[in-house]
Amino acid sequence: MTSGRTFASLALALALAACSGNPTPEEVAAAQAVITPTSAGVTTETASLDEQQPPAGEATPADQPPPEAAGEPAAEPAPASSHVDLKYLIGDIDPATDPKFTRIPQKYIGGSRVWGHKDAVDAFVRMAEDAAQNGYQLKIVSSFRSFSDQKRIWEDKWTGKTLVGGRKLNSALPDPKARALKILEYSSMPGTSRHHWGTDFDINALDNGYFTNTKDGRKLYDWLVGHAANYGFCQVYDTKKGEGARKTGYEEEKWHWSYRPVADWYLRQYPIDVGYERLTGFQGSEAAQSIDVITNYVQGISAECRQ
Ligand code: DAL
Ligand code: ZN
Repeated sequence: MTSGRTFASLALALALAACSGNPTPEEVAAAQAVITPTSAGVTTETASLDEQQPPAGEATPADQPPPEAAGEPAAEPAPASSHVDLKYLIGDIDPATDPKFTRIPQKYIGGSRVWGHKDAVDAFVRMAEDAAQNGYQLKIVSSFRSFSDQKRIWEDKWTGKTLVGGRKLNSALPDPKARALKILEYSSMPGTSRHHWGTDFDINALDNGYFTNTKDGRKLYDWLVGHAANYGFCQVYDTKKGEGARKTGYEEEKWHWSYRPVADWYLRQYPIDVGYERLTGFQGSEAAQSIDVITNYVQGISAECRQ
């Protein structure tokens, strides 16, 4: 039987061959698809999705009811705040010290990004455990990225340091809007990525070809399509082709999955709290408004992930 390492090499090679100009080399280099078919034996666990409420664990200390005083009847629990600070929407946080975040268990890390929203990580672990029971080894090749992480990815493409489709975009596309649209095929502008939220994970390979052209990739993708929703995950960027398909947003990303119980909540608040005046501080930001990245990209998601 082919080893997991061979699968990893295959997927990485495919990613490098097919993805030039898509994810950055850093992101591609991080992709280590490791899919080791083992036995069958299905177990499933269903996470309830309460899309109307902030997820458990989001209440701040200020939201907590006071401790029950001796001899007094228990107070009604105070409703949790439904507001998330702007900093969480635009990745302006340090996940190593932020209580909403946790480190992804080492066995599920397949790249250089190691942090996620704790509810999303918990759900991912449940999904990965059941996937393992079914013979699939899930690895997170990218997870939380801060505003400054995304600024580096974006500006490396903007300035030509990272080739996009084999080209240096600074010279190939001098028009800011055209250049931004090219980068936006696969990379978000800083401040607009769902990776800022810690709720979204890139799983196993940053390459659609892996999930369509290899037997193991196809099987894994089929498993995710059939089961990820049971754990609260959806594929955010599905195909844009065909009747009824979304018309705007990033190209298809079969690897990018989002934890809805938190992400739905953040997405509802995003256009309320984030305006174009916030999307500044990086090269090419002048194109954000004319492209309307909030409507067309942040909100340009699959029907499966829409509310
Ligand atoms: N690749 C997705 C669209 C991101 O950069 O957030
Ligand atoms: Zn992603």
